[in-house]
Amino acid sequence: MSLDISNELECIEKVKKINEGKNLKYLILTMGCQLNENDSEKLCGMIEKMGYSKTENLEEADLVVFNTCCVRENAEDKLFGKLGEVKKVKEKRGTIIAIGGCMMQEKHIVDKLKQSYPFFDIVFGTHTLHQFPSDLYTKLIENKRIEDILDIDGEIIEGLPIKRNDNIKASVTIMNGCNNFCTYCIVPYVRGRERSRNPEDILKEVTELANQGYKEITLLGQNVNSYLRSGNTDFNSNVKSFADLLREVNKIEGIERIRFVSPHPKDFTDDVIEAIRDCDKVCKIIHLPLQSGSSNVLKTMNRKYTKEQYLELVKKMKERIPNIVFSTDIIVGFPGETEEDFEDTLDVVEKVHFEQVYMFIYSRRVGTPGDRMENQIPEEIKHERFDRLKALVESQIEENNKKYVGTKQKVLVEGFSKTNSNILTGRTDSNKVVNFDGNEELIGNVVELEIVSEHMWYLKGKII
Ligand code: 5AD
Ligand code: SF4
Repeated sequence: MSLDISNELECIEKVKKINEGKNLKYLILTMGCQLNENDSEKLCGMIEKMGYSKTENLEEADLVVFNTCCVRENAEDKLFGKLGEVKKVKEKRGTIIAIGGCMMQEKHIVDKLKQSYPFFDIVFGTHTLHQFPSDLYTKLIENKRIEDILDIDGEIIEGLPIKRNDNIKASVTIMNGCNNFCTYCIVPYVRGRERSRNPEDILKEVTELANQGYKEITLLGQNVNSYLRSGNTDFNSNVKSFADLLREVNKIEGIERIRFVSPHPKDFTDDVIEAIRDCDKVCKIIHLPLQSGSSNVLKTMNRKYTKEQYLELVKKMKERIPNIVFSTDIIVGFPGETEEDFEDTLDVVEKVHFEQVYMFIYSRRVGTPGDRMENQIPEEIKHERFDRLKALVESQIEENNKKYVGTKQKVLVEGFSKTNSNILTGRTDSNKVVNFDGNEELIGNVVELEIVSEHMWYLKGKII
């Protein structure tokens, strides 16, 4: 059972009444991952129903919402920097400042806010996002500062209004939280334990998206391939696993492409591999976070697989799924990482030939085991390793891009290029950006293109 949200829906109506005729504007700043972005879409849905319209201009905002992330340090600097700017606008026009998301689940951050940025109006966490309408209502009626943060795992919420960022591609969260406790990662502390959504609710949402004309669905979760493996799984549905879910989503008419992020290599069971192989809509690029190529580092990271097991999994998938390719996440400079360990990471990158690598410099997160480890790596070594990894990745991408030239690719056309409004842009199944000349009517369709040239971050194509 999902949580009863009738009180929140009532508060939406009450705030809407208060705001009537005022032509109020809101600005939202989203600082995190795709899950965080999907949460922002829900926030926007609620806020727009309460009578605010969106603006990108801070100077005219009556409500500013920060949806924060805490995975890496730079998000914190960004929040505190931006808050200074927003303060000035608040002084001029009484803007309401609300701060939510993962960072608000960290006590030391909320303490810092109260001490150094006491002008905020509402803070809310990851488990109380759906209560934003009642928080805002209380703020408007009682004009007091609201702190609405829960430390216990929030329940699954269905039925919130949603305002999506795009009309071709949509994200659908299938589970919240994480049980893995990788030692570098703050997520299990700020998003709680794994809770899966009822498969029937997910399928209903995807069907509605297909009816609205969406073509690509990304299934989201911190650990998607442990979907329905822990927490409440007592749903009355034929879908009993992530593999089943892929097969059911694949049947939904109108959807052309299915992606998912992120799976964990340790949970990549054969049934999921078979489902990827069998489902024609599931894109044949798999995001498989490596984090490190060294078995020693993987052990201290608590990843529960070795270098060899990772490579074995890639080999098995390459054997079973024709034309499969991979993308990955890598952290450099985890405590205790030796030169030899780092070379193991380079070795895996050389062997797998990823399509895309998201590279991160290890960032200490308060409260995680990694932060308490004594053998932290000096900043200059972390940066030097990062640069070496980046050089290798870029040379591989360049090499890989050349392989596309002359091939035919199916491209889902997303719209006009942001930098040139005469050129259409889309993505291949393997998520490569392709720019090409074409007619507006192609937007939202899958077209066959011949790739004519390659550039570092995009390919050029022509209609065949
Ligand atoms: N430092 C650096 N990168 C991190 N990530 C998660 N936690 C940290 C950290 N403390 C990276 C991981 C993860 C991605 C979302 O962010 O690579 O897969
Ligand atoms: Fe940021 Fe992680 Fe939260 Fe996503 S889940 S918003 S990356 S802290």
